[in-house]
Amino acid sequence: MAEPLGVAVIGCGTVGTGVVKILTEQSGRLEQRSGRSIQLRRVVVRDPAKARGVTLPSGILGTDVAAAVRDPSVHVVIELMGGTTTAKQVVLDALSAGKHVITANKALLADAGAEVFAAARAAERAVCFEAAVAGGVPIIRALAESLTANQVTSIQAILNGTSNFILTAMADGGRSYAEALVEAQKLGYAEADPTLDVDGSDAAHKLAVLAQIAFGVAARPHEIERQGIDHIEAMDIRFAGELGYTIKLLAEAWASPAAGRNSTVALHVAPVMVRKTDMLAQVRGAYNAIQVIGDVVGETLYQGPGAGMMPTASSVVADLIDLAVGRAQKSFAAAKLWSGADRGFSIEPSEKVRSRFYLRLLVRDQPGVLADVCRALADEHISISSVIQHEAREDHPDQLVPLVIMTHYAATGHFRAAVKMIDTHPALGGKAVSYPVDD
Ligand SMILES: NC(=O)c1ccc[n+]([C@@H]2O[C@H](COP(=O)([O-])OP(=O)(O)OC[C@H]3O[C@@H](n4cnc5c(N)ncnc54)[C@H](OP(=O)(O)O)[C@@H]3O)[C@@H](O)[C@H]2O)c1
Repeated sequence: MAEPLGVAVIGCGTVGTGVVKILTEQSGRLEQRSGRSIQLRRVVVRDPAKARGVTLPSGILGTDVAAAVRDPSVHVVIELMGGTTTAKQVVLDALSAGKHVITANKALLADAGAEVFAAARAAERAVCFEAAVAGGVPIIRALAESLTANQVTSIQAILNGTSNFILTAMADGGRSYAEALVEAQKLGYAEADPTLDVDGSDAAHKLAVLAQIAFGVAARPHEIERQGIDHIEAMDIRFAGELGYTIKLLAEAWASPAAGRNSTVALHVAPVMVRKTDMLAQVRGAYNAIQVIGDVVGETLYQGPGAGMMPTASSVVADLIDLAVGRAQKSFAAAKLWSGADRGFSIEPSEKVRSRFYLRLLVRDQPGVLADVCRALADEHISISSVIQHEAREDHPDQLVPLVIMTHYAATGHFRAAVKMIDTHPALGGKAVSYPVDD
């Protein structure tokens, strides 16, 4: 039997604890699956006095990251501390010390993928990151290995469980955004500071990782246009429902044309109106789902728990078994991720993406307002598919009334120009609210 594989886990919080549990409680299963013993040799944390909810073998818990990374009995360093500064240094140090690296850190990959992967190639070591996108859902392997006969043509994904939980609570329970957020925090689905989840940043980091694998583009997080769910109003969720849609925070990549030397891919994260009958609309609560269309296979869907201790640990340990078997090293070398290899795609601004749009205005019930709005849309060559205007109450003739317009397909840039014009209308109470409609 091959020599045991020594492992250091750097960070024993939510994910690290799950990984340690599997390594300590399922060692027989891991040995059977990988053909060699996998031994936990070091666990590094900030505060060794903290209760961990897992029994660690004696003498392996410490605070010295450098010692763990340099330890000659460690062959694989699992970075589960989070953040992009110290974590990056830990990963680079581990690679230069000749260790393979496993990480669940999408922010690090989105931010410094090129640097980390160049260091790995220079050190002839592998970096594995199945857990970095969609937690327990094996989407990295699906894209990097199982779908390699395809050129991916689009990805539409629910990649942030917190946002999906909040949107589900708003749609099903009629809650406001603030009420749904409090519920998510109570149930442990949202952090005390939920900013990165609800403003679309987390989903953008994950989309950057998927776009690297599917299209070979190295999109930095700031290059991905993003809109979160933090300004969604209950009335838009309600109107969407009345029109037969539900609003989902989607991370999307659209290739055009699907293949060829001068193809482009548009990347964005936004609340999107999805038909209630669509597969993505059925994904509820804190779940993640990724719909990938490939030019050979057609439409595929991957769904499951996108975060949490054991689902995420499941992916981390799968990477560890792949390293123990030797599969991961081959896949890493073959995939050439973040290598600058030109796969023919460049990033296209979202302005050119064509979509239908939902437009909701609050207007004073005055003659000519609807005509002005329609003219602003027509000036940008946008035709309207339906209009719903509620009547003002007779006892409140000055009351603002919602005007909901669904457009036909239009380029995003043209639609935005029309909305800019509409926003200047004196009869509007507040700015227009709009979402792309996925049809
Ligand atoms: N949570 C999830 O469901 C999930 C899902 C997918 C991916 N991820 C990713 O997985 C990574 C870890 O997330 P998490 O939720 O497990 O984080 P977490 O619960 O905050 O745990 C972080 C761990 O890292 C340790 N740590 C932080 N800075 C350190 C330092 N300078 N030196 C030594 N130890 C340090 C902490 O030590 P102490 O315990 O002593 O404070 C803690 O054990 C992140 O990159 C995250 O994005 C998380």
